[in-house]
This record gives sequence, C-alpha cells and structure tokens, in this order.
Amino acid sequence: MKIGIIGAMDSEINLIKNFMTNPTEKTIGRVTFYEGKIFDKDIVLFRTGVGKVNAAIGCTIAIENFGIEKIIFTGIAGAINNKLNILDIVVSEKLVQHDFDLTGFGCPLGLIDGEDSVFFDADKTLVELSKNAAIKVLGDDKVYTGIIATGDQFIADKNKVQNIGSIFDAFAVEMEGGAVAQVASHFNIPFVVIRAMSDKADGSAHMNYEEFKPLASDHSAKIVLEILNNL
Ligand code: ADE
Repeated sequence: MKIGIIGAMDSEINLIKNFMTNPTEKTIGRVTFYEGKIFDKDIVLFRTGVGKVNAAIGCTIAIENFGIEKIIFTGIAGAINNKLNILDIVVSEKLVQHDFDLTGFGCPLGLIDGEDSVFFDADKTLVELSKNAAIKVLGDDKVYTGIIATGDQFIADKNKVQNIGSIFDAFAVEMEGGAVAQVASHFNIPFVVIRAMSDKADGSAHMNYEEFKPLASDHSAKIVLEILNNL
C-alpha cells in the first residue's frame, strides 16, 4: 500500500521528509517526488505548490506514475469558525471549492460541472485516524472535524471569510484541498486533508500567517507522522 503524503509548501513537508529513510528522488514536470519508507510504510512525499491547479497536477502525476493508493494532505489554513483558535486543527469531513461559480446557470455556488454535490467526502477511516492522531499530538480541545473550503485566493477579509463560512458551513479555508479531493474522487482514491490554523482569514491574516506558518506546518506534519505510526 503506497501512501501519498502531500503538502503545498516546503514548510508543510520538511518535518516528514526528515523521517524518510533513504528516499529516492524523482522529478516529473516541475514536481519532485520522494519515495521511501516511514515506520515501514511505503510513502511518496511531495510538494505541489500553492493553489488548485498545482495541487491537481501533483496528485494526478503521483497517482499515474507512482500508484499511490491513499492520500494524506497536510498543511495550514485560515480559520473560519469562531470556535477555532490559531494552531487548532481541522480534519476534513468534506471539501468544497468555494470559488467554482456557475451560479449564472442556476447551479449552487461550488458545484463543479458533472458532479452531483458541491462537497467531496473524505474517507471516513482516514478522518477517524487523523482525528485520533491529532488529539494524541495536541489534545482534544484543539481538534475539530468539518468542512474545508478551497479557492485560488488567500482570504484576508472579515466579510469574505464570514461569507464562505455561512454559505458552506465551513470550518477552514485554504487553497488546495478541494482540488486534491476532486482528483482523488476522480480516481477513486481515499483521502483526507489535515490543516492547522495559521490565521483567521481576516484583516490580520497576512501578519498571523507569517508568524504561525512554521509552527502550524509542523503541528500538521506531526499528526501525519502519528497517523503513519498507527496505520
Ligand atoms: N492558508 C492559510 N491561511 C489561508 C487563508 N487565510 N486563505 C487561504 N489559504 C490559507
């Protein structure tokens, strides 16, 4: 069973890379893949770059060329729900692309042509494993499961974030998860997205993001290592 461990940025995969024993490196297109083992599990680790298209490119290459059979996406996000604090964790129950807009044709916001729902469901077993791993690493007062909204925008505006929250009942906003979900569901591959909150997607988002990116990235990566330890 080969597991794809994916992040958008170096900060999100660095900690995990250090745990790989003798990884082999292969670059396809502009994506570098690291194949090796962590805790005896076969891993393909890579960084997609930011945004939905980059995420879709990386995931598709990994599925087609490395035969990954599960996807765990790790990284950081902006918190939407008021209950959440910076550095809390959201494990994806569902993903939605909040900027996919065919509303002019009578479709609900987020509905992608050819899909029956605006939401892509994460794999229930991976969600449960991720939630338990996150609780073990950070404590249960810091861990939530819920909807994650994805779009090709860094959200840093109170009205925008509240709008995304109220339309989709989303807990967190980021820039890749919905694309990973679409590709995974296209190829029928179980997936989960784990996000540590780096900011609240409001007027302070850029400042908080810069400050908390390293720690939030490491928290999310530690949870992935704990999952691999239990798989
Ligand atoms: N990733 C981390 N913070 C984010 C935000 N505020 N908007 C989109 N993606 C993010």
